[in-house]
Amino acid sequence: MDVTFLLNGETVTINAAPTVSVLDWLREEQMLMGTKEGCNEGDCGACTVMVTDENGTRTLNACILFLPQLDGKSLRTVEGISGPKGELHPVQKAMVDLHGSQCGFCTPGFVVSMATAHLNGYTDFDDQLAGNLCRCTGYAPIIRAAQAARDAPVPNWLNDAHHLAKNTPGELQKAAGAAPPISLDELAQWYGNNPDAILIAGATDIGLWVTKQLRDLPKVAFLNRCPELSTITETEEALHFGAMVTMTDVLNAVRHDYPSYGEMIRRYGSVQVRNAATIGGNIANGSPIGDNPPALIALGSTLHLRHKDQTRTLAIEDFFQDYQKQDRKPGELVTGITLPKGENALRVYKVSKRFDQDISAVCGAFNISLESDKIASARIAFGGMAGIPKRARAAEAALVGKAWNEATIKNATAAIADDFSPLSDMRASAQYRMTTAQNMLRRYFAEMNGQTTSVLGVQA
Ligand SMILES: Cc1cc2nc3c(=O)[nH]c(=O)nc-3n(C[C@H](O)[C@H](O)[C@H](O)COP(=O)(O)OP(=O)(O)OC[C@H]3O[C@@H](n4cnc5c(N)ncnc54)[C@H](O)[C@@H]3O)c2cc1C
Ligand code: FES
Ligand code: FES
Repeated sequence: MDVTFLLNGETVTINAAPTVSVLDWLREEQMLMGTKEGCNEGDCGACTVMVTDENGTRTLNACILFLPQLDGKSLRTVEGISGPKGELHPVQKAMVDLHGSQCGFCTPGFVVSMATAHLNGYTDFDDQLAGNLCRCTGYAPIIRAAQAARDAPVPNWLNDAHHLAKNTPGELQKAAGAAPPISLDELAQWYGNNPDAILIAGATDIGLWVTKQLRDLPKVAFLNRCPELSTITETEEALHFGAMVTMTDVLNAVRHDYPSYGEMIRRYGSVQVRNAATIGGNIANGSPIGDNPPALIALGSTLHLRHKDQTRTLAIEDFFQDYQKQDRKPGELVTGITLPKGENALRVYKVSKRFDQDISAVCGAFNISLESDKIASARIAFGGMAGIPKRARAAEAALVGKAWNEATIKNATAAIADDFSPLSDMRASAQYRMTTAQNMLRRYFAEMNGQTTSVLGVQA
């Protein structure tokens, strides 16, 4: 597969096997050893690289990024963060001055994340650096270095691709020599005729099939070549995401209307993972612990699918049929998801072993509306409680038409035990999951009645 992009400012064209990781290519073919391999599964950020395209500049984990995902983009490694004459970037200088490095293994990844945050003017450093793990320095000197460099100007050598992408759409792709895009019509026809192919969206799942399961993927299609799948459309009534919209862009779009959903996404993977992972991938993979489906079900969202020329829509909860079984026929792709807008009382609660950047043990989403103190409608959905993301129908039935009070909540809480028989696994025991899910409903009731329910604050 021919791929063309800018590597540290220089155009490269390669004919690459589609599932060679950018990390392996940098280290083995380019001898650019600054980008490190730590976990090789997207968790540690040692392999962080800076990627610029029409949507801006962001960090990605090179270990679970395939070369064709870079087509027409600009890639900067840690070697390209310093200037052409070896000048240190302000974040590099601050890391030296403030002792932000000891063994140095994590340092290139931190420097790339810090330089990208600096370029974008992001100063929420705890968030920006949550995907970079350091085992020896401790985070305080690193955060101090990020703060110290905050107001320094962006070095010229980093601005080129960023400005090109921002100010003259199309020019970066031209400069980087991207392959022509394909239309959704072409993609749908091709996939309909090649249903054995594997569609690659952000590769945050598929990357691990290659790096950890050592799978060969003989026939693949990269969805990033189809721009129609990356659009966000907003009307008075609805918010529509194309399947290829990344979790970073979903977060920015839902933050205002569904703040609790946005807050959950802020804890979804890391910045690097959210910059790659797509909403379509998180639905299509059918994972019982995917974080979007519970919120999307509680909102009453509609999923869009396409097989060749035929399109169809369905309520998202109906897509998930059984463990690893979805309502999707061979050769049919997910094209997008529509969320209704307007009044909602959505709350999304994610419980994971580690607060940041961890997969959910249980994720619960609640959307209950009242009319004259009676419950008019209830949509409750959980991830991590069954083989699929699933509505709590018995709990909902125990709520609708009843008074909004503790007795009703008590009945509905008990009904959750009729809805689910969760499993025990390394993330949580069945009993822990059940108790957690029931407590989430109690928490929702408390919050809707104006009580503060911070799970981070300690209260006597
Ligand atoms: C470090 C790390 C942290 C993570 N943290 C979280 C987390 O907190 N919460 C969470 O929910 N997930 C998490 N994940 C899992 C992963 O990020 C998500 O499942 C992600 O949304 C998958 O999307 P993707 O675009 O990367 O999919 P890909 O890996 O590209 O594809 C996943 C599957 O979906 C199929 N597919 C993709 N798009 C389509 C489409 N449009 N139509 C049909 N099939 C399609 C692919 O063929 C494949 O089978 C994490 C992963 C990593 C590596
Ligand atoms: S090597 Fe750990 S995230 Fe890539
Ligand atoms: S300096 Fe050693 S891991 Fe961070």
